Amino acid sequence: MTAGAALSLPVRTAQGYPYAIRTPRPDEAGTIPPLFEDEVRAGRMLPRDPVEVRTHIGDWLIATLDEETVGCVSLVFYSDVLCELRSLAVAPTARSKGIGGHLIEAAVEMAYRRGMRRVLTLTRRVHLFERHGFRRDVVMNYPEKVWKDCAPCPFREMCDEVALIYHITPLFRSRFTTEDEE
Ligand SMILES: CC(C)(COP(=O)(O)OP(=O)(O)OC[C@H]1O[C@@H](n2cnc3c(N)ncnc32)[C@H](O)[C@@H]1OP(=O)(O)O)[C@@H](O)C(=O)NCCC(=O)NCCS
Repeated sequence: MTAGAALSLPVRTAQGYPYAIRTPRPDEAGTIPPLFEDEVRAGRMLPRDPVEVRTHIGDWLIATLDEETVGCVSLVFYSDVLCELRSLAVAPTARSKGIGGHLIEAAVEMAYRRGMRRVLTLTRRVHLFERHGFRRDVVMNYPEKVWKDCAPCPFREMCDEVALIYHITPLFRSRFTTEDEE
């Protein structure tokens, strides 16, 4: 999958804190895994190999507040039209300011710019994703995901995650700028 141009979106929380959502620089790869290591330890999120994070840094977005990485999200590509939104996390101190929602919107935008038509996610935060345009689906409709992650997952018999899908239509409206467009 070819990497797209770096995305950048300066935003402001309702409380007025300025933060940015953007493609991380390669030297920022190490700031990503610590954002969800507690969730991985608790068995609520799948681990990500740090080497793979660095290798595919163009498939990640981070949220930064005063140049500190406080949020992340990534895309995993299954085909020319289907990808998965994975590893969404916001640091506990930065939550409930809208950053998670903006990261979801930014990930959908990245998928749109890569020519994707559908964005799959598996989550327990169903309402958060529904508020950002995702609709409930059934994971068995996505054998690419089932065979890659669900089949080997130790929690598959007690999985409480819900599959949701975002359909990117030709009416999709871009909110982000790339470095080329600024
Ligand atoms: C899930 C997660 C990423 C959400 O991040 P977040 O930055 O808190 O997300 P948002 O602020 O956009 O939304 C969180 C809540 O705050 C509310 N909110 C959004 N903007 C707000 C604002 N300006 N002021 C107050 N509340 C706000 C939202 O309505 C939302 O409500 P909900 O909890 O009922 O869904 C974060 O809780 C997290 O990292 N959790 C651990 C990892 C995890 O569960 N990841 C999801 C795996 S798919």
